[in-house]
Amino acid sequence: MTWTSKEIHLATRPTGYPDGDTWSLVSAEVQDPAEGEFVVEVDHISLDPAMRGWLNDVRSYVPPVKVGEAMRALATGTVVASAHAGFVVGDAVVGTFGVVEYAKSNGRGVTRLDLDVAGAPTWLGALGMPGMTAYFGLNDIGRLQPGETIVVSAAAGAVGSVVAQLAKAMGCRVIGIAGGPDKVAWLKEIGLDEAIDYKSESVHKRLRALAPDGIDVYFDNVGGEILDAALANLRRGARIVLCGAISSYNDETLAEGPRRYMSLLVFRATMAGFVVFDYEDRYPEAVAALSKMVADGSLVARETVLDGGVEGFPEALLGLYDGVNTGKLVLKV
Ligand SMILES: NC(=O)c1ccc[n+]([C@@H]2O[C@H](COP(=O)([O-])OP(=O)(O)OC[C@H]3O[C@@H](n4cnc5c(N)ncnc54)[C@H](OP(=O)(O)O)[C@@H]3O)[C@@H](O)[C@H]2O)c1
Repeated sequence: MTWTSKEIHLATRPTGYPDGDTWSLVSAEVQDPAEGEFVVEVDHISLDPAMRGWLNDVRSYVPPVKVGEAMRALATGTVVASAHAGFVVGDAVVGTFGVVEYAKSNGRGVTRLDLDVAGAPTWLGALGMPGMTAYFGLNDIGRLQPGETIVVSAAAGAVGSVVAQLAKAMGCRVIGIAGGPDKVAWLKEIGLDEAIDYKSESVHKRLRALAPDGIDVYFDNVGGEILDAALANLRRGARIVLCGAISSYNDETLAEGPRRYMSLLVFRATMAGFVVFDYEDRYPEAVAALSKMVADGSLVARETVLDGGVEGFPEALLGLYDGVNTGKLVLKV
């Protein structure tokens, strides 16, 4: 059998924000699986801020997407044909299938999903890669301790909202930073102690007022001015978790560095980056902890699911940098 798959391919490398020239919509033919392979019909595609970085021809933690290739993306789907000993037709799976309707896989990096535990979008969000990022970033890099004060940026997003709720469950004081009154209201609803709207308030002044003795952990998802505001409000021995810097991902020129980095010296603080993929061996530990919290209601897993199929990918990706999402941003195929 042959499956016709609509796919989004990288047409040219963008400068700044990806635009109409960046992508091409391609119709590809996916043939029957060979021995050791299976075919997946994709149902949900994950939109991730890091996708912008994968378009740059630079040395990074993964090779850049090649021009003319299907865009790389995590996705969920169902096995529709299999010549692989470990996967049968009907299995729900998650893997790096790309922005495609049908993908062929040899099973490497593919995990079977239990849809009774949670729906596919949650397996791309709180129980997927972003949830793992929150779990390992907070515990292993932030070394958060009960009773400490933590600040998290992009707090209403996929990683941030899990960070915030894990920290609350540990008995910490949690201050979230997000854009707009709706996101601030939601953060309060899920139990954060304080929420700052960076679009209408001075983050620096609010942090000074809310944490006059300084913050113990800053979980940085955005970089830029918000990072500077956090640096200016540290407590001695603070840890900054460098998870991401979405504020600069579409910059055409290199952003100015953190202006307040001397705070690391003054407050005997550390700032460390990490990549979630390095924790692959421990994913089961994180999934077990996070799914238990989803089941007992202490972790609210929220997703913003966009319709539009693979054709909707270019616009959906831009939405991420505009903050259209509360929780994990997912594209339905
Ligand atoms: N290190 C790792 O292994 C790893 C793994 C996964 C993700 N990450 C990083 O973690 C961060 C969050 O990723 P995510 O998947 O959870 O995305 P997300 O938070 O669900 O979505 C991105 C959010 O960023 C906010 N944002 C966009 N532009 C901004 C700006 N200029 N300043 C401040 N906030 C801005 C928007 O929310 P507002 O409406 O609040 O602005 C948007 O909703 C990203 O930096 C990503 O690259 C790192």
